[in-house]
Amino acid sequence: MKFNKILTLAATVVAGLTLAACSSSTTESSKSTLDAIKEKGTLVAATSPDYAPFEFQALVDGKNEVVGADIMLAQKIADELGVKLEISPMNFDNVLTSVQNGKADIAIAGISYSEERAKTFDFSEEYYLISDVLLVNKDKADQIKDTNALAGLNLAVQKGSTQETYAKENLSSAKIVSLTLMGEAVNELKAGKVDAVLMDSPVAAGYVSQNADLAIAKAEFPTIDENSKVIALPKGSADLKAEIDKVIADVKAKGEFDAFLEKAATYTAVE
Ligand code: ARG
Repeated sequence: MKFNKILTLAATVVAGLTLAACSSSTTESSKSTLDAIKEKGTLVAATSPDYAPFEFQALVDGKNEVVGADIMLAQKIADELGVKLEISPMNFDNVLTSVQNGKADIAIAGISYSEERAKTFDFSEEYYLISDVLLVNKDKADQIKDTNALAGLNLAVQKGSTQETYAKENLSSAKIVSLTLMGEAVNELKAGKVDAVLMDSPVAAGYVSQNADLAIAKAEFPTIDENSKVIALPKGSADLKAEIDKVIADVKAKGEFDAFLEKAATYTAVE
């Protein structure tokens, strides 16, 4: 119908004007990410559910579901936007790409901020800050007292992670083994095929609590910016970022992410 078309056109013009009025920058004015999400009524979040307590698979009422602290945060964001949350599970090395090619609206996967990544993505404000640790077999925990002790050892990292980049740049005396799934890396550790796995401290703590033979090595890593957990958005998502940052500010003010992590620890993970 012509009339409908005119209405749509008018709506588009109004939306365009609002957008132009809202954004002070002069970046291209394609449809805003936020409007697109509201229009479809769904927030699609890419994640890699191999990283408890951030995101993992668990049996909920007999059904296999993706749960975790990040998922609770994503749900809060979806609620705030008034849309449904759709979790899109995949391997970690595909998570960021899926935001880049528009298959997902956001990525939330214990993602660490990095300047390199910031060239390609917009990032939310930091919602959590932690440091990296080395998960090892218990008998090696004291021995690996600093990073020098890694020389000649097999060090596993997750493919596509900041730990992989860090290890390649700073721990090159070790033999670096990049694996797709975190669980795979931990299995290699238990089997003695690798000597240590570099990962975020809450994730390592989770493995230790479930495996009497595993421990966190003495070696310490600096808490750097690159350990800030952030949500990845497509470049040019200023309006979506503003909404997400509001939720994050609220979560941080209440210390709610710690509560999410604690709640996540009550689920039983399925491998
Ligand atoms: N800190 C890391 C990064 O952003 C690791 C995140 C891994 N997340 C996961 N769900 N497996 O690169």
